[in-house]
Amino acid sequence: MLSSISESVKLLCQHDSSGHDWWHIYRVVNLAKHIGSKEGADLLVVETAALLHDLDDWKLDSSDSENLPIARKLLNENGSTEDFIEKILTIIKEVSYKGAGIETIPSSIEGMAVQDADRLDAIGAIGIARTFAYGGHKNQPMHNPDLKPIHHSSYEEYKSTRTSTINHFYEKLLLLKDRLNTKTAKEIGQQRHIFMEQFLEQFYSEWNLD
Ligand code: NI
Repeated sequence: MLSSISESVKLLCQHDSSGHDWWHIYRVVNLAKHIGSKEGADLLVVETAALLHDLDDWKLDSSDSENLPIARKLLNENGSTEDFIEKILTIIKEVSYKGAGIETIPSSIEGMAVQDADRLDAIGAIGIARTFAYGGHKNQPMHNPDLKPIHHSSYEEYKSTRTSTINHFYEKLLLLKDRLNTKTAKEIGQQRHIFMEQFLEQFYSEWNLD
């Protein structure tokens, strides 16, 4: 069952250049299964939700993150039960980051594993690379010292504010290590977080010629 879902997902994200390509999905699936196995989660649920977690995301063009039509269609085509479909769609809705001021803690350990994996793929060296790819995709400036980071207090504000890629570190990436759910993910996140801090330090020292 999962191989046919993953083939469909691979086809759907093959042309993505926003940092949400197939290899992001691939890494999140592996990481979520790793976390899930240490945390005693149902790995079929974890893997399925991880595979489908970005297909209906608001960050991507023409998405419907309320009804998740693409994920639902693929699950239906694979003959999943209504119960299983609801479980997966609930996780997908809970996974997404909605802004610094908005808590989104998943209601199941499977959801926590997928959310942690998705967040870990947004930090560290890969997170840095993906953030610049996404900024380019959104026509954002890389850095503009006149634009200050914003602590978003609503999802609408987070979705609509124009920012720079460097600001995105302060608005999201550096906050993620304290928003991880599981002990396994917190251990992995620690080192990735330190690497981002070092990156920013080097970035500013080059920018300012110090
Ligand atoms: Ni993702």
